[in-house]
Amino acid sequence: MVRVKRASRRLVSPPAGFLWGTATSAHQIEGGNVASDFWVLENGSPTVFREPSGDACDSYHRFGEDLHLASSLGFNAHRFGIEWARIEPEEGRFSDAALDHYAQVLTSCRAVGLAPMVTLSHWTVPRWFAARGGFEHPDSPALFERFAAKVGERLGPMMMAATTFNECNIARMARLLFNLDAPGVSERIGAMLDAAGHGAGRWGNILFADLGATEDHQVDAHRRAVTVLKTAVPDLPVGLTISMQAVQGVGPDHRAEQLVDALYGPWLGAADVCDFVGVQTYTRIRAGADGMLPVPEGAERTAAGYEFYPQALGDTVRFAAARMGKPIYVTENGIATDDDSRRIAYIDAALTSLREAKAEGIDIRGYFHWSLLDNFEWTAGYAQKFGLVAVDRLTFRRTPKPSAYHLGRIARENTVL
Ligand code: GCO
Repeated sequence: MVRVKRASRRLVSPPAGFLWGTATSAHQIEGGNVASDFWVLENGSPTVFREPSGDACDSYHRFGEDLHLASSLGFNAHRFGIEWARIEPEEGRFSDAALDHYAQVLTSCRAVGLAPMVTLSHWTVPRWFAARGGFEHPDSPALFERFAAKVGERLGPMMMAATTFNECNIARMARLLFNLDAPGVSERIGAMLDAAGHGAGRWGNILFADLGATEDHQVDAHRRAVTVLKTAVPDLPVGLTISMQAVQGVGPDHRAEQLVDALYGPWLGAADVCDFVGVQTYTRIRAGADGMLPVPEGAERTAAGYEFYPQALGDTVRFAAARMGKPIYVTENGIATDDDSRRIAYIDAALTSLREAKAEGIDIRGYFHWSLLDNFEWTAGYAQKFGLVAVDRLTFRRTPKPSAYHLGRIARENTVL
């Protein structure tokens, strides 16, 4: 156990009523995240990344503009990630400058009236941590705990809420949704990870994790992080975010429950130490007698290849409430599309399903849309556009799309929920 200094009480009072915001992550928007494990994978050879993240949206420098824009659109909250690889670029060496940077981001949120919800880990880890096997290493929970303690002490009082892992179950979900175990795919991923580790051992990565070797450590790391954050700032609400798609059984012999077990594993029980759960939903998954079924023929697909199925959100918040028993924030929901009118249609249908669930008495406290900006969509690079705001890849100029004004208006009027 690390020693944790008690910081001050929380300085941020959350806005009364429903929270409306957008969600972002450090690696996907900041740019130049050179000390992270993903940087090595994106820029190495072989790689499964379409292109490297590079300068991303340059939000490490332009965060003030981004926050001002989010606030002026009508939002009252903001979800963003801090980058472990910047805060602890070498093992045990913490960067005060990086911590100060995030303190400035938090101060700016407050100045423009955005209640900040902060993600400690949105998939990226420092290179040195990946090189020693990431969460495969038995020391990994203690290392994550030490990082979380630093963050809690220095930044905790300025947050409205914190979450430990983004999509704690992503290695499970990705395996199914992105077909990572398909022949050819797993070999390419393995070759990329071997090259990154220079043959010296496995390059531990959260997205491509070997679950048998990592998951217990990650659950332990999550629990320890909650404890140290709450020791540092006892009144800071702390949660866990989970990738949750609506699972629907099809046919008399469907295996929906088995699919649910495969998608969530130990994580449905891991929110017991949390104050809330962050639900992240994009589509539905249909389960037949032999597992996951393909997208129904003729159904509309998003640019990410998922079925256009926004009403999944109502189902997932019901599921989360029943199985995890905690207040809920929708911490991600959105669509990859080049046709912004489909984004507007998606938002409206998703919010309608959310309102219905809320009317049934489910404790839903906020909605964060993924994402504020068109950004680095991991292996898909910059091809998939999830943003309410377009970003010029050369000038970094931000241009809100009609959907940004649409959701901003809903947020300001607070009529839908
Ligand atoms: C995830 C991540 C985000 C993605 C988003 C769109 O859910 O995969 O939290 O980083 O960009 O979901 O795919």
